[in-house]
Amino acid sequence: MLTLILVKIGGSVITDKNLYRRFREDSCKKIIRVLPSLNDDLIVTHGAGSFGHIIAKRSGFPRKFKKEDVHDYSIIHRDVLDLNDMVAGIMLEEGFSPLSIPTQSIYRNRSPDLSDFQKYMSLGFTPVGMGDVILRSGIVKIISADDLLVALSAAFKPNLVIFLTDVDGIYDNDPKTFSDAKLLKSIDRNIAFSHVMNDVTGGMKSKYEKILKIRKHAGEVVVVNGNKPERLNDIGKKDFIGTVI
Ligand code: ADP
Ligand code: IPE
Repeated sequence: MLTLILVKIGGSVITDKNLYRRFREDSCKKIIRVLPSLNDDLIVTHGAGSFGHIIAKRSGFPRKFKKEDVHDYSIIHRDVLDLNDMVAGIMLEEGFSPLSIPTQSIYRNRSPDLSDFQKYMSLGFTPVGMGDVILRSGIVKIISADDLLVALSAAFKPNLVIFLTDVDGIYDNDPKTFSDAKLLKSIDRNIAFSHVMNDVTGGMKSKYEKILKIRKHAGEVVVVNGNKPERLNDIGKKDFIGTVI
């Protein structure tokens, strides 16, 4: 029986979060090459990394929309589409048939419209979603790929949700700041998070809160190092390196 897997490729892996619009092509390729081995129905989403967060932070997004915001909003949206184009391009080269679903069209109404994900998946495409800015009720909002996974999980009840990020999983503290931070192989409790620089969607803390929501609808959620995507082949095995929630 085919199972449904949702993947988020973190902006921290496929971009250099400190350098505006710096794409990491090799890292992205390595991830896409591992995905077919999962051999399931697949929805891929990706974050924005330095194609979104740097200008969003500079502009003070998310916040109430002001007329002068249109230019920065356009730049972020253009940059996100450029990144998506590169991700989809690699997927095509690797034999996938990606179909990008614009975040703007998902969040047109009060509740997210995910019907295109269902439609294109059933036709044999691999739907691709992305973090982006949206404008609703006079507010510039940031929709992260994590938010998309919360909505997609509630709607489609996936068997497995995979977060690919730039560290080995969820630690008891930020491993980039605390060298003695311990990797949590499995978790079911609240842990302290520190602030991540240049990340307006709250880094691992808000990710963890969303993961808990996703977990209610998904068979399993794992956080894996996207720079070592071959670890995805070890999910369920004793020597799997990552965090299972
Ligand atoms: P992504 O772009 O991959 O979705 P983020 O950059 O938003 O991910 O979050 C990943 C970052 O969160 C890591 O680079 C790490 O430095 C930071 N972080 C903070 N606290 C933790 C923690 N307790 N465990 C793991 N990572 C953490
Ligand atoms: C952020 O998406 C979208 C914008 C800032 C426009 P994500 O929050 O999913 O991106 P990453 O993975 O943290 O870079």
